[in-house]
Amino acid sequence: MCGIVAYIGNREAYPIIIKGLQRLEYRGYDSAGVALINKAGKLNVYKRKGKVSDLLDFVKDEDTSGSIGIGHTRWATHGEPNDVNSHPHYSQTKDLVMIHNGIIENYAAIKEGLTKRGHTFLSDTDTEVLIHLIEEIQTHENMKLGHAVQAALKQVNGAYAIVILDKNDTNTLVAAKKGSPMVIGIGKDDFFIASDATPIIEYTKNVVYLEDEEVAILRRGQELKIRNLKDKVITPYIQELTLEIESIEKGGYDHFMLKEIYEQPRSVLDSMRGRLRAYEGDIKMGGIVDHEKKFEKAKRIIFIACGTSWHAGLVAEYLFEEFARVPVEVEYASEFRYRNPVIYEDDIVIAISQSGETADTLAAIELAKSKGATVLGVCNVVGSSIARATQGGSYTHAGPEIGVASTKAFTAQVTVLTLMALHMAKVRGTLSETRFRQLCYEMEAIPSKIEEVLKLNDQLREIAFIYKDTANALYLGRGVSFPVALEGALKLKEISYIHAEGYPAAEMKHGPIALIDEEMPVFVIATKGANYEKVVSNIQEVKARKGKIIAVVTSGDTEVKAIADHVIEIPETDEFLVPLISVVPFQLLSYHIAVMRGCNVDQPRNLAKSVTVE
Ligand code: AGP
Ligand code: GLU
Repeated sequence: MCGIVAYIGNREAYPIIIKGLQRLEYRGYDSAGVALINKAGKLNVYKRKGKVSDLLDFVKDEDTSGSIGIGHTRWATHGEPNDVNSHPHYSQTKDLVMIHNGIIENYAAIKEGLTKRGHTFLSDTDTEVLIHLIEEIQTHENMKLGHAVQAALKQVNGAYAIVILDKNDTNTLVAAKKGSPMVIGIGKDDFFIASDATPIIEYTKNVVYLEDEEVAILRRGQELKIRNLKDKVITPYIQELTLEIESIEKGGYDHFMLKEIYEQPRSVLDSMRGRLRAYEGDIKMGGIVDHEKKFEKAKRIIFIACGTSWHAGLVAEYLFEEFARVPVEVEYASEFRYRNPVIYEDDIVIAISQSGETADTLAAIELAKSKGATVLGVCNVVGSSIARATQGGSYTHAGPEIGVASTKAFTAQVTVLTLMALHMAKVRGTLSETRFRQLCYEMEAIPSKIEEVLKLNDQLREIAFIYKDTANALYLGRGVSFPVALEGALKLKEISYIHAEGYPAAEMKHGPIALIDEEMPVFVIATKGANYEKVVSNIQEVKARKGKIIAVVTSGDTEVKAIADHVIEIPETDEFLVPLISVVPFQLLSYHIAVMRGCNVDQPRNLAKSVTVE
């Protein structure tokens, strides 16, 4: 999610806020805005689609004075990226304005109630609903703003980092957080708030990291006050920042790719947020609810995508066929669009794209639509061309993916596609209730299992060092792990420039085995499952020809451990959910090999983040 910056004190707020938003620019965003109260007590709000530089141009002749203000860069999750959906958002009376990072899962239900009570909304965002709720409680219960925020947040499910400005109280900012980051800077006579320390560090190194479900009251001339939602007073824990400014542009990581690999527990969770209800045994996919009948009757699903997104489609093929018993085809969009494919009106075509701007995928969508198919999308960018070209679908909530090599977008895509496949199975009655619930609970555990794999980083760096100079590499997997083999190979080749191939493990004996010798590292997914023994045989075949085996195995495996050169043990999960976890070691291996080879990890040669040309 994107960036928040706020200031209250004795300096001009606007320059601090704008510079802070620019420092958060690395987080990627689609719109920006500020709200300021000038010395005369006038509230000025400026916001627009586009970059911070566009906002700067927009306000250059406006009144941006004042020593209190809030600023926001948006990464849209609910509502197109446009001027009216940009933050800050007003309350009903326009006395309060708020900025928000995160997702209010139950905003629709709250909005319905507020609308019935006469509230009118200017935007399509979840954020605007929350500030309306806060003001309604403040007025109705005659509460101070801080207490109204506590009361409102008790009704909220989701993630938030919010800052509120009250035009009738120019001496106070109210902030709160849960799930999204927030740092409060403690100056000599002023306070700073931001999504990370980047906008704060040049003014003060004394910071407080707000904890989940804490509400902070920042009042001029007073100490910082913090209470939790249970109204318990929290003593602020002031820390001294040791990081230097240049090292925190990427949130403390050396590269965006590494940061995004480590964001996966959060991005997978965010992609399930508001959709997976394991306890209730239910999955809610808002973007496809209007097409449930089509899913129920569909005779075929066709995935169209490119690159890593195509690999996510391949994983989905196994999931939809296994869970929903529906035939699936997975097409390279670039091939599909030129092949004059046979498409039926009762086909469901699902376009998968992180950027939502890939030209071949867009063209394939138009072709499928022209033949009368139902065309849905799985995109990471709200309001992107593909999101707008499709008739429905679901967003991945991975947040901005800056590194050219796709990592968190892949696991977010597989997460959303898994939920879709389970939802379709429920609609078609092709999964037992027990099996459905078992898979839902396993999905809930995935973020923590990815956390476990991330702890293997040192081991993976050591393995990377051994193989960093190899000229070639082979990746093998069976079943739903075959697409992971392809994805692992793509990661390695696109950032380290080593030639790598992914193959179905059984297919190796039909040719690639000729490549095996003591110089060939073979990366194998050999986790527990129906194909396990067969993969072990493939490993034996490689060892018989002196190949080097680096195997991703289920924790506690002894059989592969006895024959492989290296084993990477990952937590056990349902065999159909393994891709969400087994891809992570390959992401980290590729990252470390590329760094050791001195490659430009975030902008590999010849590559672009979004291929908008054909
Ligand atoms: C993957 O690491 C690459 N960046 C590339 O293959 C990418 O997945 C492909 O260009 C598709 O992009 P999209 O998901 O934005 O459509
Ligand atoms: N969910 C809010 C929106 O879509 C905030 C998104 C963000 O974190 O930037 O506007």
